[in-house]
Parts: sequence; structure tokens; C-alpha cells
Amino acid sequence: MNKWKYGDSWEKYPIESNQIWELKEDRSMISVHDILNSFPEYMLDADLVYSDPPWNLGNANTFHTKNDSGYYINSFSEFYNSFFNLIQKINPLVCYVEIGKQNLKIFQDKISELFPVVQSWEITYYRKSPCYLIRGGQLESSFDFTGKDDEQTPLLAIQNESCNCIADLCTGRGLTAVAAYQMGKRFVGTELNKRRLAVTIERVSKIGGIYENTVS
Ligand SMILES: C[S@@+](CC[C@H](N)C(=O)[O-])C[C@H]1O[C@@H](n2cnc3c(N)ncnc32)[C@H](O)[C@@H]1O
Repeated sequence: MNKWKYGDSWEKYPIESNQIWELKEDRSMISVHDILNSFPEYMLDADLVYSDPPWNLGNANTFHTKNDSGYYINSFSEFYNSFFNLIQKINPLVCYVEIGKQNLKIFQDKISELFPVVQSWEITYYRKSPCYLIRGGQLESSFDFTGKDDEQTPLLAIQNESCNCIADLCTGRGLTAVAAYQMGKRFVGTELNKRRLAVTIERVSKIGGIYENTVS
């Protein structure tokens, strides 16, 4: 039996993998997806991507354990190639990705294949671990994220860009989704783990956004 329940959010917001849950007020949409397998069309609406994917193979597979996926990936490149292919399909104006030091260079190179301008800042993760925020865009951002914590960086990124719709391929428990809602922007997201996604739904509902199942 899976011990990773993430509280009782899923019992309140029981999202399943064949469903899209939508915020009627602005058509924000989220669903349960392994981004190695599929990609909902609504993700293509985004003009800004902000995502905090797994940082290495061990971390990626820890999320499969926590999800009870029943399978694992064999190499981290399997994951990040799919991740960046999807970003290429979305073709956003700007893209932010968080990553640890181990795979920083690989992620910088991947983003530089998609964008002419790449910037990186050292930030903190959970207020203690060092981490990097990489930004790809057409033009440079003048905002300095150095030393900021990843709890604030999605909001700061959205505040400092002109965008209408924000995508997160690894939505998790919703830092990007909550920041988008706080900024009055549409959000589109995918997430492997329905119980983590239910935490996002609950967090957004606590600040006034009611996600509803559109497919039963
Ligand atoms: C570092 S966490 C993201 C944390 C997020 N910023 C938050 O606010 O909770 C990475 C997320 O990616 C998800 N994930 C891992 N592999 C995935 C995959 N193949 N497809 C979609 N999501 C995946 C994990 O379940 C986890 O929620």
C-alpha cells in the first residue's frame, strides 16, 4: 500500500487520469499525465512555461515510487528529452526551469537550443538547498532572481513577464498554479501523481478558484 498520501486533498478533489479539471472563470486546465507518454492539447495555449521537474534519474524514479506507477525509467535523458520536446511544441515566448547543479549544464544547453537568450541564477530550494533557475527567452530579463527561494520564484517570474497563460509540465503541489491564480493569469498543467495534483486543486480553492471535472 502506498504511504504517500499527501494528506486528504484527493479524497476531497478526486481527480482521475482520464479527466481534465477546469477553472470556469478563466479556462485554466489541469490533468494527470506522465509527460513521457502523452500531452494534452490545451498545453499548447501557454506563452510562458515555468516548471520544476525532477533533477536526476533517482529523483525522477522517487516520484514513480511515490505515485505507485509500477514502472521506472532507465535513464534521465529519457525524461528530459521528452520534457524539452514538449516545451519545443508549446513554443512559449519565455521558459523558466529549476534544476540542481548536477544537470545544470545539460539543461542550459537544452534551453539554448530553443531560445536565443539564456540566463541562470542561483536560488534556494525549500529555503536551504542551492538550486538554479534557468530562463530562456527572446530578450534578456533585467530581474535578478539571485538568492530568492523557489517558493517565491514562480510569482516573481510571472510578475516580471508579459504573459497570458502559464504552463507547468510537472505541476506537483501547485506553486506555479497558485502564483498564476494570484496574478489573475490562466494556468495549464500536467502532473504524474493525482494525489499531488489534488493538493494543487485544494490550494487554489483556498484562494477562491474552483476547479471542476469537465470529463466524467
Ligand atoms: C520537484 S516536483 C515539482 C514541485 C512543484 N513545483 C510543486 O509546487 O509541488 C516534480 C514533480 O514532477 C512530477 N513528475 C515526475 N515525473 C513526471 C512525469 N513523467 N510526468 C509528469 N510529472 C512528473 C512529480 O510527481 C512531482 O510532482
